[in-house]
Amino acid sequence: MKQPVRIAVTGAAGNISYSLLFKIAAGEMLGPDQPVILQLVEIPQAMDKLRGVAMELEDCAFPLVHGISLHDNPFDGFRGIHYAMLVGARPRSKGMERADLLEANAVIFAEQGKALNEVANRDVKALVVGNPANTNCLILSRNAPDLAPSQFCAMTRLDHNRAQGILGNKLGVNPADIEGVCVWGNHSPTMYPDLHHAQVLGDEAAIDMIDEQWYKEEYTPRIQKRGAEIIEWRGLSSAASAAQAALDHMRDWALGSDGRIVSMGIISDGSYGVAKGIYYSFPVVCEFGSYQIVQSLHINDYGQSMMKKTEQELLEEKAAVDHLLPEETAASREALRTSSRSGQTEFDAGIDTGESYYRADRIC
Ligand code: NAD
Ligand code: LMR
Repeated sequence: MKQPVRIAVTGAAGNISYSLLFKIAAGEMLGPDQPVILQLVEIPQAMDKLRGVAMELEDCAFPLVHGISLHDNPFDGFRGIHYAMLVGARPRSKGMERADLLEANAVIFAEQGKALNEVANRDVKALVVGNPANTNCLILSRNAPDLAPSQFCAMTRLDHNRAQGILGNKLGVNPADIEGVCVWGNHSPTMYPDLHHAQVLGDEAAIDMIDEQWYKEEYTPRIQKRGAEIIEWRGLSSAASAAQAALDHMRDWALGSDGRIVSMGIISDGSYGVAKGIYYSFPVVCEFGSYQIVQSLHINDYGQSMMKKTEQELLEEKAAVDHLLPEETAASREALRTSSRSGQTEFDAGIDTGESYYRADRIC
């Protein structure tokens, strides 16, 4: 039996987490042989609701769950963690633009970056789900000077999954039979869902199977604004699909993507001419606990203009939160190439994360 790993989930009493936590606990993220200790983080006002969620986890009697602890601040909640699923943030409501969220949520991620820097395992992998995810991720990383920028990702996997699912529906093929879809840039209406490298059933170019006008005028805006479309119909921000995407992202990052291209919001190392130092969604392949950007894809003029537009938006968002980006981390975030890292560290036994809600790791 493997040693348990510690996973922090913020916003653990919210909608996405209500789906995500049960999938993690069932072993869908790190595998059916990987025990977990869940360190659930919320704001003080949500601690009662969080206790109710923890009770439900306990009631599932998941064999892989070796412990659950509840925290009202990240400095306790992130102690010794190997994985951080940063979901907690204010979601967008009907009619609200993502940019409106920028200031409110930026402060949360500055504090969480400091907490990760201080108390997380040195090999922690952190995924930002809370919006605006790319810029929150930048703030997080810049506030964690002792951690590598490649340890942080912004979630664009939901956009990637949407791009694959909606294309599958259009072509009448199983989404699993489509490979090479990717999403570039920001998790926002400027993102660029790129089908030029996608293959259907291994040998047919997806772009040749669809009408250019449909691709540019219907499909692309649909993927870009799918979050708003869900809010419009459901009255709430996407939750189960976001949880599935977060799980897909972390599973592939930790265990590998089996050679498949996936989209991840990662620190730009200047590949494809994208400005260094921003968290931009690239096509990547994951292996041995790390990711590599897929290089040398041919980008046509249309693609280049789409990629520039979303890059521009990220640079503007970066300028808007400049006061939350410590100068000391500026150079390291721009000089670095994303390098391959070894997998997770071994379980660091003997960590005291305060009072546990639940404990099932005794050996009898
Ligand atoms: P929700 O309102 O149901 O839950 C958010 C939870 O976060 C709440 O319980 C709240 O108390 C908690 N929270 C707020 N500030 C916190 C903090 N500082 N520390 C810990 N917890 C905190 O929202 P949701 O539907 O679960 O969505 C969460 C976030 O995910 C939103 O920002 C939403 O826009 C974003 N989202 C991102 C994607 C993506 O693809 N990247 C997709 C869907 C939703
Ligand atoms: C989504 O893409 O579903 C989320 O980011 C929600 C939103 O605000 O668009």
